[in-house]
Amino acid sequence: MAKIFFGQIIHTKSLSDFEIFTSGFIAVDHRGKIVGVGDESDYSSWLSEHTDFKAAVAERLTKDQFLMPGFVDCHIHAPQVAQIGLGLDMTLIDWLNTYTFPLEAKYDDEQFAAKVYTKVVENTIKSGTTLASYYGTNSKDSTVILAKEALRQGQRALVGKVCSNQNSPNFYIESTEKAISDTEEFVKDIQNLKTDLVKPTITPRFALSCSKELMDKLGEIARNNDLHIQSHISENLSEIDFVKALYKSSYAEAYDNSGLLTSKTIMAHAVHLDDEEIALFQKRGTSVAHCPASNTMLSSGFCDVLRIIKQGVKVGLGTDVSGGNSMSIQDAILRALDVSHHLEFVKKQDIKGCGRSSIQDQHYRPLNYKEAIYLATLGGAEALALSNITGNFVAGKDFDALVIDTTNYPLHNFYIVDDNKPQDLQLLELIQKFIYVGDDRNILRVYVAGKQIK
Ligand code: GUN
Ligand code: FE
Repeated sequence: MAKIFFGQIIHTKSLSDFEIFTSGFIAVDHRGKIVGVGDESDYSSWLSEHTDFKAAVAERLTKDQFLMPGFVDCHIHAPQVAQIGLGLDMTLIDWLNTYTFPLEAKYDDEQFAAKVYTKVVENTIKSGTTLASYYGTNSKDSTVILAKEALRQGQRALVGKVCSNQNSPNFYIESTEKAISDTEEFVKDIQNLKTDLVKPTITPRFALSCSKELMDKLGEIARNNDLHIQSHISENLSEIDFVKALYKSSYAEAYDNSGLLTSKTIMAHAVHLDDEEIALFQKRGTSVAHCPASNTMLSSGFCDVLRIIKQGVKVGLGTDVSGGNSMSIQDAILRALDVSHHLEFVKKQDIKGCGRSSIQDQHYRPLNYKEAIYLATLGGAEALALSNITGNFVAGKDFDALVIDTTNYPLHNFYIVDDNKPQDLQLLELIQKFIYVGDDRNILRVYVAGKQIK
């Protein structure tokens, strides 16, 4: 059934182009595709050219609500939700060995996997995530369960069976042959779901845990089937030293030499990339998932996303659960803003010990909330090479959207009374309220491809 939404609407068209409609409309056809977007004052003339919408259902938002694009989580480990909040007083390698590998090994148990993955998808939808790039585990079958669960609940997802054949504990390691054959089967299993919503993504865990032979083969599978690729890069200084010693190259070259840096690749963290590595990303069209919560919690470092964006690389946000302690991309927006402000202090005050990020810049300007919303929506869709389908409200794209309501806890949206008249908040103020103070309780409804999933 075709639908027309009327009310306050926000979205982004680029990092610096934030568009608002204080009184707008979005027309969505029966397939869930956006057909028209504009000011309500232009609606009648639009309708005269789209007479098939005369019978469409009209939905009018209240003055305390607004529509925005759904959140995109460019990097989340679904199995790790079972340990969220644990071990965050450690750094990466200790955290992986103490908590993460033993937990992920348990996903051979498909009942356990189904139970956790049902909750993960429910909770990320509740937090407004309409598109997630998920890591499963080494277990092919349980990762298929994750993909089917995203599809069942109507969430858009990229899903990867994780590969690791070296430098891993003996209870959580695969042979090269098994990693390859399971990946090939996994790709077929997901493609057999015959859906546009869920796609397979090639997932070498990181260069440390994959041999050159395995990475070469994964690169080949991705190339032959035109698949997405996701992995980790340059997160933690000791990890980087280990990779450089192993591969006798930069971290980025270690992946590039196996054909793993493509225009459909997203690499998480990128905290300590040097300029040559960023230039290589730009040349290959490879993107970055900025994971501010986990970069902070695991003491990995400051990622200067503006530096990466300025060099022409696409960036989206990732929760990186459970290196990150929140499943919410709205929380990731706040964490990204925090990191960016802290980076500004470092750059203006000559604080030692912050590595590359301490390079002085008296003119450094932090991210602002509008740019952070871009990273959380269109930026993420671009980084995942899916911006032809989602990320903002443009005719031809799918309607992946959130209805935000600012009247309930923790916002309440009290009115300031001036001259005995209640003063409504303006749209840009409602957005700030939601971003800085709100949470999933203010996400009233979630739509993917026009279908309401919350
Ligand atoms: N590097 C390799 N595996 C992981 C993981 O599970 N989480 C994070 N944050 N970094 C990784
Ligand atoms: Fe991660």
